[in-house]
Amino acid sequence: AFNLKNRHFLTLREFTPQEIGFLLKLSADLKAAKYAGTEVLTLEGKDIALIFEKDSTRTRVGFEVAAYDQGARVTYLGPTGNHLGHKESVKDTARVLGRVYDAIEYRGFGQAIVEELAAHSGVPVYNGLTNEFHPTQILADLLTMQEHVEKPLREVSFVFVGDAANNMGDSLLIGGAKMGMDVRLCAPRACWTSQAVQEEARALAAETGARIMITDDIDEAVAGVDVVYTDVWVSMGEPKEKWAERIKLLMPYQVNADLMARTGNPRVRFMHCLPAFHNTETTVGKEMQDTFGLDAMEVTDEVFESPASIVFDQAENRLHTIKAVLVATLGG
Ligand code: CP
Ligand code: NVA
Repeated sequence: AFNLKNRHFLTLREFTPQEIGFLLKLSADLKAAKYAGTEVLTLEGKDIALIFEKDSTRTRVGFEVAAYDQGARVTYLGPTGNHLGHKESVKDTARVLGRVYDAIEYRGFGQAIVEELAAHSGVPVYNGLTNEFHPTQILADLLTMQEHVEKPLREVSFVFVGDAANNMGDSLLIGGAKMGMDVRLCAPRACWTSQAVQEEARALAAETGARIMITDDIDEAVAGVDVVYTDVWVSMGEPKEKWAERIKLLMPYQVNADLMARTGNPRVRFMHCLPAFHNTETTVGKEMQDTFGLDAMEVTDEVFESPASIVFDQAENRLHTIKAVLVATLGG
């Protein structure tokens, strides 16, 4: 019923709620088929370029294994070892890769770069995260909510707590508004999403019946929600100097046991796109500990490791949802 062949996947904006629903259904079907050992290959002979100007674990392995599962081949183009951006323009790179590949994934900086690749390559282009948007993540998040909250998606409520001006806050706001959900952003005003994105979400909500709340009041924002979602306080590409300022602003918004309890929902779930800062075992974690003290993290280890946490189901769903995008846009 839905033909998404040759479509780009750039922000999620360009898809109707029905098309997103179709991609979620396809994701669930592909996941079930993989578990059952009955997956049908639809991408044999296809070549996909994977450009990563920033680091990645989930998105890279999601695209690679999704492609391999479906019979396609991938080439990883990292931040060094190719000419993109320094010796060759995005437009020229797009035209070269479009001659060699059947599709291109791009993770990097400005949204304008992935849009330019899409404009000039002549093949489907997928946004694997930019400063502004992370649309493949949202598909995985919606699938995970569907699996864990026993309600139709449009009845699900979630609150994004933390740096709501980043790619995740904006993408969740747009995605949730599209799907007619109860969407709340909870952050100090300095970390709110732009006026333009707020207005866009409210316009979408007027069409879909979504409920949008943007507030700095934690109790109001978390009351009765099905899901509490957070992300890092400083995103890739942002200067380290942001840490001190963000920690000061966002400490009261840390997702801890108290905040989870304030939802009043004993079955509330915790989600995070990952990687998460929840202990000091990592190099960055250690550095933070030395500089600011132990507690300056977006989620406590207690919540991250609690039964409410569904972050690894969410991470796995990156694979199945990315696969759905590949199959729908490229599958023969
Ligand atoms: N969530 C996510 O995009 O993770 P990676 O940065 O590991 O790809
Ligand atoms: N906001 C984070 C998301 C990582 C998946 C970042 O851009 O670094």
